[in-house]
Amino acid sequence: MIRLGVLISGAGSNLQAILDAIAAGKLDAEVVLVISSRPDAGGLKRATAAGIATVSLSRSVYNEPWAADELISDKLIEAGCDYVVLAGYMRKVHPELLDSFPDRVLNIHPALLPAFIGSEAIRQAWEYGVKVAGVTVHYVNQDYDRGAIIAQRALDILPGESLEALTMRVHHVEHQIYPEVLQLFAENRISKDTDGRVVIR
Ligand code: GAR
Repeated sequence: MIRLGVLISGAGSNLQAILDAIAAGKLDAEVVLVISSRPDAGGLKRATAAGIATVSLSRSVYNEPWAADELISDKLIEAGCDYVVLAGYMRKVHPELLDSFPDRVLNIHPALLPAFIGSEAIRQAWEYGVKVAGVTVHYVNQDYDRGAIIAQRALDILPGESLEALTMRVHHVEHQIYPEVLQLFAENRISKDTDGRVVIR
């Protein structure tokens, strides 16, 4: 059983997928703390409904991003988190947090990295006209949406597919792949080789 601290900024559908996978017995984990970078994030309600402790940070906390990450790190350590799971968390992460959880901060991104970084990835891919969209789960480092890739899943964009339809399908893939990857961590099956490449046993 691994103890997860989940960082969110928005609706929290990935948080919900993780909670659902735990409830269904597919993920041997416990979400012990949810931290939101926005007080109005919908995901906070999901966490509270599931009886999970939450911390909601105001915008002004991020005036000093390093101090914010120190605060977040303290809360996660205090809660006894093994892994820090970014789930729609739209803030850069700094050494104050990364150094407390080496190779234990993970992110999901709704594109096949390194293409389409940032907060509008699905729209950018759709507008560009790529034929294949996808999802990436990766370790977090100091560069936003970078870090060693753990898992990716691709989906063909259908002829004439609307942005809304594609967005729904990408989210659906996210909700499958993130709990699956976390279960691999719970089974201790993910590591890095000497070149820093991710190895899954
Ligand atoms: C998800 O699609 C996630 O991959 C994305 O934000 C969305 C959050 O949705 N993250 C990024 O774009 C990170 N650069 P959710 O709050 O419903 O989980």
